[in-house]
Amino acid sequence: GLPEQVQIYEVGPRDGLQAEKEIVDTRTKIEFIRGLRQTGLTAIEATSFVSPRWVPQLADAAEVLAGIGSADGIRHPVLVPNQIGMDRALAAGATEIAIFVSATERFAHENLDTTVDGAIELAAPVVRQAAEAGIGVRGYVSMCFGDPWEGRVPIGQVLDVVRRLADLGCRTISLGDTIGVATPGHVQALLEAIGGTGIGMDRLALHFHDTYGQALANVLSGLRCGVTEYDASAGGIGGCPFARSATGNLATEDLVWMLNGLGIEHGIDLDRLVQLSGWMAGKLGRPSPSRVVTALYQE
Ligand code: HMG
Ligand code: MG
Repeated sequence: GLPEQVQIYEVGPRDGLQAEKEIVDTRTKIEFIRGLRQTGLTAIEATSFVSPRWVPQLADAAEVLAGIGSADGIRHPVLVPNQIGMDRALAAGATEIAIFVSATERFAHENLDTTVDGAIELAAPVVRQAAEAGIGVRGYVSMCFGDPWEGRVPIGQVLDVVRRLADLGCRTISLGDTIGVATPGHVQALLEAIGGTGIGMDRLALHFHDTYGQALANVLSGLRCGVTEYDASAGGIGGCPFARSATGNLATEDLVWMLNGLGIEHGIDLDRLVQLSGWMAGKLGRPSPSRVVTALYQE
């Protein structure tokens, strides 16, 4: 059977905004995150402490964290690529982090200017320091299905990186379909292979981009395998500036619509979220790519 309840992990303020060319002002980002808190979301990735030269849009990470403050029962993880990022995140008061590595060599180079081994070496001391500080760590693995340069990614290659992040002590490992090429059979095959190594489905999250319209079908495949955490972005905004053909994440509203139909609990107020995403689309100057927002938004 399917799980009774899932955790939605909102990535709109981070994955959603990181590729926006026009800088969104800090106040709008803060208003967006505060709005997301009002919808029932309990895990909202707030920003990234990456190089501002690489991702100018998120150069205001410290100001965003300071501006949103904390809210009872709501987690605000932030992306950290290396020790400099960790120092900045801790100084800004981050209480949860996410490190990120790639399953492919080419994307490790494009996204982090290093190798797969190099990315894990950058992450290791950060994860250790987080453990000492009592800070939770999520580990992302990018390009788990296909890579724009390397093509289809072998499952064994993904397994190896997932196992290394699990050994490092990442609490949750999010499997990224960075460019949205995954299909449900591939998702099932990867999850069964990971399950076979003894890593439980309760340690996994699935992170789908919707480039080829497969994200919801892939979620259903994940649900059938017992995965209970799903990444999504409000309004379906987003993409990765370092991967050709990456478009927005699965829209949180589209995910919520499907979960409602399946009777799976998620805790989100859909109407509120649709209105917020409609407002944000106005700020970004183009309609939301989410089908559900398009159907339900009332101007
Ligand atoms: P690099 O150029 O090799 O960095 O980039 P470096 O270590 O050689 O340092 C160069 C300069 O950057 C130095 O400054 C450092 O101080 C500075 P300078 O001395 O020249 O003035 N620097 C920093 N400044 C602020 N914060 C930092 C930082 N680190 C170095 N953290 C680096 C290496 C890792 C920094 C760079 O490649 C980077 O920032 N990459 C991040 C890319 C990124 O954010 N990608 C998107 C997120 S991942 C994603 O979207 C996928 C995901 O959604 C899952 C999926 O869909 O698959 C998670
Ligand atoms: Mg992503």
